[in-house]
This record gives sequence, structure tokens and C-alpha cells, in this order.
Amino acid sequence: MTPLPLVDPTIRIDSHLDAAHERGLADDVLDGLTRPFKELPPKHFYDERGCELFDAICELPEYYPTRTERGLLERHADALAAVGGGAAELVELGSGTAAKTRVLLSAMERRGTLRRYVPFDVAESVVRDSAEALVREYGGLRVHGVVGDFERHLGEIPSPREGEPRIVALLGGTIGNFPPGSRRRLLREIGELLGPDDRLLLGTGLVTEVEALEAAYDDSAGVTADFNRNVLAVVNRELEADFPLDGFAHVAFFDRRHEWIEMRLRALRPLSVLVGALDLRVEVAAGEEIRTEISAKFTRARVADDFEAAGLRLDEWFEDDDGRHALSLAARVRD
Ligand code: AVJ
Repeated sequence: MTPLPLVDPTIRIDSHLDAAHERGLADDVLDGLTRPFKELPPKHFYDERGCELFDAICELPEYYPTRTERGLLERHADALAAVGGGAAELVELGSGTAAKTRVLLSAMERRGTLRRYVPFDVAESVVRDSAEALVREYGGLRVHGVVGDFERHLGEIPSPREGEPRIVALLGGTIGNFPPGSRRRLLREIGELLGPDDRLLLGTGLVTEVEALEAAYDDSAGVTADFNRNVLAVVNRELEADFPLDGFAHVAFFDRRHEWIEMRLRALRPLSVLVGALDLRVEVAAGEEIRTEISAKFTRARVADDFEAAGLRLDEWFEDDDGRHALSLAARVRD
């Protein structure tokens, strides 16, 4: 852990990741690209360029999840801020640029209970930038950022404090990036961050028309395609590889059996790629695909089942009028 020197005493940022290899990039490339079905985990999309491309995706006409979720947050902000009799703290997992966070922070501020914001993300620069912007915008707000990986560093998040109810938010449908088994494990670990008055606020995409789903992940401007290929640029830079970005087509489809979106990169020609830092040669056949993301879509029943399997209880459910996105509030079931 590197405590970073900061002038502003209202901001503290603990960084548990130093470089890309700390995110497990080398291990993931070695594992994922030497398998019979090649795969790279989606967390490696998010270098600075990847975060910018993701923000651009959120503005696309086809990508409805962000604006739908923002609408839900706005509509239910006061009910959410009432968690535990008045939420004092917002812990946001995968906070990114904290674009939707302000809706919740403002509702907590109106209620007069806002004390602290705890952003958790793999991207250090966005945690730092959002911390600095938010302390300027919210008088008296303290920010304790944690830079880490969902699967290894949740334990570094400060513990709940009595008399300071908190919302632990995982928004945007990010939970859908985890396959069912790891999803439940992750939910259980998140549950451990909850005191008796605290609630998990989970955003999930819902199963809806296939056309709308597929368009959201294959936009006409090609921004999602660039986002998808950006993972190759990350591997090239961090591991001295020579993936030709123009050698891959963007593929996105809804897998009806699993009810998830899959993104892949399909080689347009046979490629022999060197990953210099690993001394690894990767052969990719023409037409061969590398899976880069799953993004699961949910039903209310599936969310409730996942919560139950993770020691949580679905308390409240809010969905938009078109049934495309939902917010859930869940409590930890005491054993
Ligand atoms: C940030 C994981 C919620 O799955 O919709 C957007 C990422 N991928 N377009 C999603 C993403 C392609 C996004 N999450």
C-alpha cells in the first residue's frame, strides 16, 4: 500500500495497485491467451483511454443503461438517502468518474446526513480526480478513496461505523461482468461491508428486446468497437506486445441461453503475436475469437436468488417504465 501525500486533509487515497501488472494483467494474458478458447477479463479495458471511451459510450444514443439508471437514481434519490434513517456515507464500488454519484450525494446533503464518500476503483487517476472535484462541490465532505481490484481488495475498504449508516453502491450493471459463481462470491464479500442499518444498492441491466441489447453493445459510431480493441492496446503497451488493432473485428451478441451479452474480438487474418514481456508467442487463426466481456442481464427473480445465495435479502426494487434497468436495495441477513 502506498499512502499518497496530499495537501488536502479531507482527502485520503489508499492505493493497492501500482502498475498494470498489479492488476494481474500478465497472469490474465498468460492464462487467457494460451487456452483453447481465448479470453481476457474486462477489467483491463480501463486504462485512461479506456475510461474515456467508456464515458463516450455512456453518451451514445444506443447505450441506454447509463441514462436509464441516472433517471432511476433521480426518481428515488430521497428514498435511497433515507437508508438507515439517513445515510451518512456512500461507498461506491467501480466508481469510475463518479458521474451518477452526485445524484446520491446531493440527496444525502439535502437530508443533512452526508459525511463521507468512499470511491473504490482500479483506475487511480479517476479516483483522485473525482475526489478533488467532489470535496470542492460538497462542503464538509470527506473522501477516502481506495484503489484496488474487486476480487482482492474489498477488505481494504474502511469498516462500517455505528451511527453512520451507509449505502454500498455497485451501479451501472458492473455486477453483470462477473460469471454467476464469482458474482455470488463477490456479493457475499460486499455483504460483509454492511452493518445492520446499511444497504447494498445494486444496478442491474434487465433482460429486454435483443435488438436493443445488441445495439447498446455495437453502436453505429463504432465507439464500443474502439473500447473493445483498447484492451489490445493495453496489452501492447504494458506487456510489450504487438497486437495489430486493425487485425480484429468487434463482435457483440446476446447469448439467449445464458442471458448475457458477450463481446469478442475476431481475428480478420491469421496472426502471430509476440507478447515480449512474457516471452510468449500467441497464434490466432483467421476467424478465431477472443472473449473480452460478458455483461449479464437480469430478472427480478434472478437478482433475488443471487442475493439469497450470497446471504443478502432483496428489500426494495425500482425499475424503469420500459423494464430495461433496475436498482435494488439489499440488506445483509444476520446468521
Ligand atoms: C461498465 C460493465 C457496466 O457491461 O454495460 C459498455 C461495460 N461494455 N459497453 C456494461 C460496457 C461495453 C459496461 N459496464
